[in-house]
Amino acid sequence: MTAPRRRPSLRAMQAAADFVPPMPRPPAQPWRWLPSLILGRGDILRAFTEDAYRRQVIPLRLPGRGLVIANHPDVVRHVFVAHAENYERKSWFMEQALEPVVGDSLFINHGEAWAERRAVIAPALHPSRIAAFHPHFVRAAEELAGDLARAAPGPVDVAPLFAAATTRVMMLSLFGEAVPREAAAAVAEAFAAYQAAAESVDLRYLLGLPPWLAGRQSRRARLAAARLRALVAQALAAVPEPAPPLLAAMRAARRPDGTPVMDAEALANEVAMMLLAGSETSATAMTWAAYLIAAHPATGAALDEELAALPPGAPDAEQAAGLTFARAVLSEAMRLYPPVAVLSRQARAADRIRRFEIRPGDTVMAVPWLLHRHAMWWDRPHAFIPERFLPESARRQPKFTWIPFGIGPRICAGAAFGMAEMLVFLAVLLRRFRLGVPKGWAPAPQCRLTLRPKQGMRLLLAAR
Ligand code: HEM
Repeated sequence: MTAPRRRPSLRAMQAAADFVPPMPRPPAQPWRWLPSLILGRGDILRAFTEDAYRRQVIPLRLPGRGLVIANHPDVVRHVFVAHAENYERKSWFMEQALEPVVGDSLFINHGEAWAERRAVIAPALHPSRIAAFHPHFVRAAEELAGDLARAAPGPVDVAPLFAAATTRVMMLSLFGEAVPREAAAAVAEAFAAYQAAAESVDLRYLLGLPPWLAGRQSRRARLAAARLRALVAQALAAVPEPAPPLLAAMRAARRPDGTPVMDAEALANEVAMMLLAGSETSATAMTWAAYLIAAHPATGAALDEELAALPPGAPDAEQAAGLTFARAVLSEAMRLYPPVAVLSRQARAADRIRRFEIRPGDTVMAVPWLLHRHAMWWDRPHAFIPERFLPESARRQPKFTWIPFGIGPRICAGAAFGMAEMLVFLAVLLRRFRLGVPKGWAPAPQCRLTLRPKQGMRLLLAAR
């Protein structure tokens, strides 16, 4: 007689049906992650052991240097909100990594210089101003759809095309018609080359090791940075007066004594920063979202249904903002694949985080990749479940467990811009194409300045 088979629980059945998209397999032996971090030229995601997805604080002591990962919402709040002034400075590696491209821009600056530039740039990107950028979103999305139609049915590596399209949005926003479309692709390409070549984004820098140990910037990285700077200078020189409002606001900003907040060099630095911060991130988020939609037909069908309720053509700003399910898909994509996977800071003064002493100069990080997949805060944390971001469920999610745009005073200045832009892109693209994943192919996330798919993002595009 055979024993009665136990019925699987509902939870197990759901789990079996879950779509768990690719992630690096956590290493089996926890004690090896320190040497693998130091010696590896790989990436930090591969060093996270299984317990990193459950721990609340992860300390690492290196000779003469400390590093702590804040991995609990209360600890994140302590560092990035309650004691933000002690941790306002970006980590040394981040300053080094971006300086050749963005100079002293606010992204890596701190103190007075950060505050006065943030006060110019953040209001220009305020949610109340976003509708003015909507025509740029639509135009770049339609140009992108045209490129994809020429490349279809594929497989097409959409990552560089998405990066060129979001750079195009930033260039239209900053320079208007003065700069041709090809310049956007050139900027996106140069930045991709910089990311690929920059020694400074590898793990040894991430740990804040001194330059003699961490290695110097490669020649290729320096060339890519120089190329980016030249493209920015050309674009700035080409813009006629009156400049588009975003650039005009930056040029016009004055201190109380009447001197400009940004001289020519500072302006070029901020423009370079906006081109990168405003395009790499949205492109990365959309790249992963497109993959998840392609790989999970039920999500594609639900999106089709939502879009079918809209009149034909590209959505207007209000219609795009009302795409609740598309917003949930993007939010879930940024949970699983946060474009900025690591936020790192250096401590100004001594502090204590839980039972760990923080010394001046120590690195403290929040790692959205870990927090977003933390076993304490997420049900089936590695599974793709966009419904968790529908308004009802999203309201129940504890604060500071989903931080793709960062948090505290340095939170992303372009979050509303980025979200509005991605909703328009998604609507335009999904109306034109049905997405699919080539048989046997899977992307591999790799943490550099942004969380890129290591071998690009190859998708199939069937015209509708
Ligand atoms: C999906 C899209 C985006 C994501 C995920 C994203 C993410 C982030 C994150 C995580 C930070 C903070 C980094 C840190 O604290 O270390 C940041 C900062 C920033 N982002 Fe975004 N971003 C996006 C789009 C944009 C766009 C479209 C713009 C501009 C139009 C923009 C402009 C900025 C600026 C200026 C900062 C620096 C803020 C400061 O240091 O005060 N971002 N972004």
